[in-house]
Amino acid sequence: MKIAVIGTGYVGLVTGTCFSETGNTVTCVDIDENKIQKLKGGTITIYEPGLDKLFVRNLKEGRLHFTTRLQEGVADAEIIFLALPTPPGEDGSADLRYVLGVARDLGGILKKGDYKIIVDKSTVPVGTADKVTRAVIEGSGNTLVPGADFDVVSNPEFLREGVAVDDFMKPDRVVVGTESERARELMGDLYAPFVRQGNPVIFMDERSAELTKYAANAFLATKITFMNEIARMCELLGADVDMVRRGVGSDERIGKRFLFPGIGYGGSCFPKDVQALAKSAAEVNYDFRILESVMAVNEDQKTYLVPKIKEYFGGSVAGKHFALWGLAFKPNTDDIREAPALYIIRALLDAGATITAFDPEAMNNVRQLMGDKIGFAKSQYEALQNADALIIATEWNEFRTPDFDRITAALKNKAVFDGRNLFETDHMEKLGYYYFSIGRKTITPTK
Ligand SMILES: NC(=O)c1ccc[n+]([C@@H]2O[C@H](COP(=O)([O-])OP(=O)(O)OC[C@H]3O[C@@H](n4cnc5c(N)ncnc54)[C@H](O)[C@@H]3O)[C@@H](O)[C@H]2O)c1
Repeated sequence: MKIAVIGTGYVGLVTGTCFSETGNTVTCVDIDENKIQKLKGGTITIYEPGLDKLFVRNLKEGRLHFTTRLQEGVADAEIIFLALPTPPGEDGSADLRYVLGVARDLGGILKKGDYKIIVDKSTVPVGTADKVTRAVIEGSGNTLVPGADFDVVSNPEFLREGVAVDDFMKPDRVVVGTESERARELMGDLYAPFVRQGNPVIFMDERSAELTKYAANAFLATKITFMNEIARMCELLGADVDMVRRGVGSDERIGKRFLFPGIGYGGSCFPKDVQALAKSAAEVNYDFRILESVMAVNEDQKTYLVPKIKEYFGGSVAGKHFALWGLAFKPNTDDIREAPALYIIRALLDAGATITAFDPEAMNNVRQLMGDKIGFAKSQYEALQNADALIIATEWNEFRTPDFDRITAALKNKAVFDGRNLFETDHMEKLGYYYFSIGRKTITPTK
């Protein structure tokens, strides 16, 4: 099939590349000239494990194309995916300006009788498929007819950054919201190679598909947040969250995943999607109370380490220097959107501390955002030089079994504040460290 993907960010680039991998001819469109030049030249613009190999192969095979020109990008496409940003607006609702702007432009480009499917892959509130339909008609000067000239389908994306290629190539399920038989058939054909092992393509109406995405993300954010609250209870009651996690996670109804406590959820999806769902609820006069609590708890959780660090240093960190391991909002990505590390950095800088950070992939993005407000190290060990303590904000695998002799030699104090529970408390006790982690006993060395 011939496919266009509008918006070539995390979702668009993975979507375009993976569709080309199954033999489709894909044109990715973006307004970012620099990004498109790089991609055309064979340079991948995001860090996503496994994506580069697929990207290079399909680019060479001539199945993957890039352009900044919408008209050129969609000319031959049977299916047009919108993988555009839907950032939070000032009131927390999803800002649809990019999606509706492109929909209007498409209205001016599509030709009568040349049927195309326009697919919302962005995360969008319930009712957006209708708005996109109206925007396309408006853009066409009221000449195009839905159902005859185009259909709008909701196909939310569930990929996780860090394992996005696997998630896309072998999805647990594909959700397709459409009431058009024609669109349903084409979408079914497109996704058939991805669900050969029997995972379902679930067809439903557009509104249910749109809500499914928000429900999934809000549920996962709630699960994480619930466990973060249990972790706090563990600290207050002298229980160990690792044990509690294993105890509850082995119940099939609960499941083992998303039960790891930490310093809050971040990233480009959970925070904005929870906020947008709460806003959607408010718009229909429904007080979605759980979501309000989830957002409030998560807000606190992001800087939960900061008062603990201050307490260790007698109430103030002014003049202290910290090593920070991990900047990305989670491992295996360079994405720093809403990363808890950024909140910790801002709070510590405000309190008069200095920081040298290390992250395997995300340092360039933070450098662009923060300039020289913090230092950047070439390795996790270099970051430790002259530091008063080590703070861990992202659970990259390479941080899990570090050389403690090197850490001890570099740090001024044997103190680790671990927002991701990377180390065994017993081990840290044997090493004689002060070790604060989430929901477990704080290890205090005996003098
Ligand atoms: N990142 C994820 O893990 C993830 C997962 C599932 C769903 N989503 C959703 O997918 C959507 C896209 O997310 P993302 O993370 O890929 O965003 P992103 O910011 O990484 O990428 C968006 C791209 O769209 C481009 N763009 C903006 N306006 C444009 C226009 N008029 N024409 C062409 N290109 C334009 C931008 O230049 C950018 O490259 C969002 O709604 C998000 O909520 C994201």
